[in-house]
Amino acid sequence: MRLDKYVCKSTDLNKRDALACIRAGQISVNDVIITESATQVHENNLIELNGQRLITRPFRYIMLHKTAGTVCSNKDETYPSIFSGLDVQKAEELHIAGRLDADTTGLVLITDDGRWSYNLTHPNNACRKVYRVTLSRPLCTERAGIIKARFLQGILLQGETVPTLPADLTLITPTEVLLSITEGRFHQVKRMFSAVGNRVVGLHREQVGSIRLDIKKGQWRYLGANEIQLTHAHSDRWGTQAHQIRKI
Ligand code: URA
Repeated sequence: MRLDKYVCKSTDLNKRDALACIRAGQISVNDVIITESATQVHENNLIELNGQRLITRPFRYIMLHKTAGTVCSNKDETYPSIFSGLDVQKAEELHIAGRLDADTTGLVLITDDGRWSYNLTHPNNACRKVYRVTLSRPLCTERAGIIKARFLQGILLQGETVPTLPADLTLITPTEVLLSITEGRFHQVKRMFSAVGNRVVGLHREQVGSIRLDIKKGQWRYLGANEIQLTHAHSDRWGTQAHQIRKI
């Protein structure tokens, strides 16, 4: 990572102060003073500020229960950002692993570990996201079965050339279903139901990989080591099978 980023991640300095520190010759890398903030460094390097070794803070992994009418971005003119309810230091270093629409509720994962969020969000990793979907048009068992088969096969969304990866649908009530997908295309769930002549009127994400939402609306908590590891070790069995179906 860049030297200025490393300094921010291992001290309380903000970016401006970290840059000033580097320019002033206060930082050494492997006993050589470095004044170029873009220099690439690695945690195995000996990086010191005025002779004091700098060690980066451990990564942070957070679960947040998003409420409707909030946005998954750092700032927005129209709606409050989900970060406004997240009282942690250096929140600007965090990013969202898989955004939700403003009107979607449920599980949002937030981290500063880019590799972890890549694993969760890249379709090749087949990490399953489970949504509880409320539909405007009731489904009978037969119609639900037809849609289930189409989603499992993959459907072509409007304006796209590549069909969706296999998705799994479970009927709960005539207007409520669970949908598991392994991708995160733009408005994917809403567009999938639109493609089969229905409309999503409520959308709530319950699960990502093996991480299940278990906190109240608007709350957040750090993930436990188990949750972080399990998701690192992903894909789960369903996601892997879904990918195999597509490859056959
Ligand atoms: N699919 C959607 O359509 N919206 C979301 O917020 C998430 C998945």
